[in-house]
Amino acid sequence: MNRKEFLKSIGAGAAFAITFSCLGGCTNDNGDMFPDDIALNPDPVTGAFLTIDLSAASSSALKNNGGYLIKNNIVVAKDLSDNYVAATVRCSHEPRDKIIFRNNEYYCTEHSARFNLAGSGLNSKGSNNLTTYNTSLDGNILSITA
Ligand code: FES
Repeated sequence: MNRKEFLKSIGAGAAFAITFSCLGGCTNDNGDMFPDDIALNPDPVTGAFLTIDLSAASSSALKNNGGYLIKNNIVVAKDLSDNYVAATVRCSHEPRDKIIFRNNEYYCTEHSARFNLAGSGLNSKGSNNLTTYNTSLDGNILSITA
């Protein structure tokens, strides 16, 4: 029984209650996300969603290849090729903020979706792909942009 059949079987009132409770974030029958992606506001001057001072102690996780941190709903990592990469923390399988960086790919700790560095899904749970961002480095300042 798929979601539509289930909602039909329980009646309109219950279906409304369940549907209404999902307005904050659900997937439809095609697995598409409702428009509840995390809204990132770029800095009006730099245009960056996030800037990180790599010399700061708070960013020490990015000193080693494979290290990552999560800040402002963005997973920022240093991949195994010495490049900085970034993606949303929100999974595309279900709207859970459970993306981490593991084994040189993005990984969701909720149901194990896997995504490569470009955000392409690597298994069925990752089939909706993942939003990734651009990174640029100016001295010790790492910028994350659309
Ligand atoms: S919410 Fe990420 S795999 Fe299901």
